Amino acid sequence: MSEFHQATAYHRDDLGGHLLDWAHQPHPFKRYRHRESLALTPPAWPSAALFDLERAGQEQAPAGRAEAAALTSILLLSAGITAQAGSGGEGQALRAPASAGALYPAELYFAACGVEGLGDGLYHFAPAGPGLHLLWPGPLAARAGALLGRPPRALTFFISAIFWRSLWKYRTRAWRYCLLDAGHMLANLELAAAAWSLAPVVGLDFPDASLGVFLGLPDQEEAPLIGVQAGCEPAQPGPAEPELPPLDLETLPLSARVGRDQVLLAARDLGRLDEPRRAPRWQAPEAPPEALVLERPPGGGPALAEAVWSRRSRRNFLGRGLSRQQATRLLSFALPADGPCLATALIAPGGEMEPGAWLYLPSARALARQEAGGRAEVARACLNQLWVGQAALALVLWADLARLEQAQGPRAYRHAMIAAGRAGQRLYLAATALGLGCCGVGAFYDRELAEAAGLPPRAQPLYLLACGPVKGGPQPG
Ligand SMILES: Cc1cc2nc3c(=O)[nH]c(=O)nc-3n(C[C@H](O)[C@H](O)[C@H](O)COP(=O)(O)O)c2cc1C
Repeated sequence: MSEFHQATAYHRDDLGGHLLDWAHQPHPFKRYRHRESLALTPPAWPSAALFDLERAGQEQAPAGRAEAAALTSILLLSAGITAQAGSGGEGQALRAPASAGALYPAELYFAACGVEGLGDGLYHFAPAGPGLHLLWPGPLAARAGALLGRPPRALTFFISAIFWRSLWKYRTRAWRYCLLDAGHMLANLELAAAAWSLAPVVGLDFPDASLGVFLGLPDQEEAPLIGVQAGCEPAQPGPAEPELPPLDLETLPLSARVGRDQVLLAARDLGRLDEPRRAPRWQAPEAPPEALVLERPPGGGPALAEAVWSRRSRRNFLGRGLSRQQATRLLSFALPADGPCLATALIAPGGEMEPGAWLYLPSARALARQEAGGRAEVARACLNQLWVGQAALALVLWADLARLEQAQGPRAYRHAMIAAGRAGQRLYLAATALGLGCCGVGAFYDRELAEAAGLPPRAQPLYLLACGPVKGGPQPG
């Protein structure tokens, strides 16, 4: 897995030209041949404020009852269309989570059981309708839970990725973006489920082939990546080993020719499981005594739905710095207390924070000094996307992949990349709530970025986000 990451690193002198094959551009939506689209129940929107949901998915809480109207809002907040880019017939639907190249490889499915206002079954969410495809009818909560090694819950969501959507543009490196994009969707899903007090629990360690069959995925084209359970235990969860009816889940091809990549498939197969496994535990690094401890940020902020709806990638940074409260709020919301990926914050001058490179230690909510090059070098390492150098904060998410693999096996790569995507989406949402701009950067010269950000010798950068005041944002008071 660290080999896959290395093998797909970009190098300045060796990027190679890759012309996009517009004749085979993948279709952005999954279209079933024989499953009709069902209308969604009109949504009810949760009132919870974004920053009150900081611990979504991280704490044990009693789960409430799920209803169809709440479910609709969870689906729309996780994967719905929130804007249209471009104009006329050429417009492109932009969605709630950010996505590398706006290619949207991630798809969303769920098993509903005992949800008021919706028949039991396994569904696919179709954002374009928006609507639902019913894949298998019947109570499937016990089956869905068993695949994650857990007791049944009223809702079990699954996020997958369709390789070709991203492969078309990014070739083998697409596996990185499939995982990062899935992490972006996960962040919204957890927040939306928590906003309805459905106590979401995430699982990434499931039997891949069995789950793929359950979701009706073509093995060489689409992989299940994430499971999320939510809601209380249903009264009639169905059997753990149900007979699935012989329905035809065939889909229209994404393009006349659908490409495959053997290296990507081999990376996907690393760490494949035959049985569900307990979630790994991650060791949070300890804060050194001289670390700068940040105060606990206040809750509140705009409603989750407002932040999701107004989130967009913004790159027109003003070169201004952050207040201490903004920096604290952003870091604390983006990163959980422990996880497989670490974060280096490159802070620009001009704000209340001491500029330079800092290792963020989320369990202590503290910053430890790091040696690093300048922000201009970081921006050059991002394939010369020079606007990165104008951002108040460049957050580099990284991991010592070889060490993670030694400790947890090759599946740790998925955990690390999905955690990076999750942190990325949460940073976007926190930035939006604070009136700041944010943009993910997956395109970088890997080694150059590691050096410019002062990462430890064996560390590999996974993802970067630029964040800060932007043109059109609120002026400092
Ligand atoms: C994993 C990932 C990598 C990205 N990399 C870049 C990048 O290198 N440069 C860039 O300008 N935008 C990048 N983006 C931002 C996307 O272009 C943006 O999310 C997409 O166009 C959809 O627009 P929206 O974020 O406004 O919804 C990235 C987004 C993601 C999730």
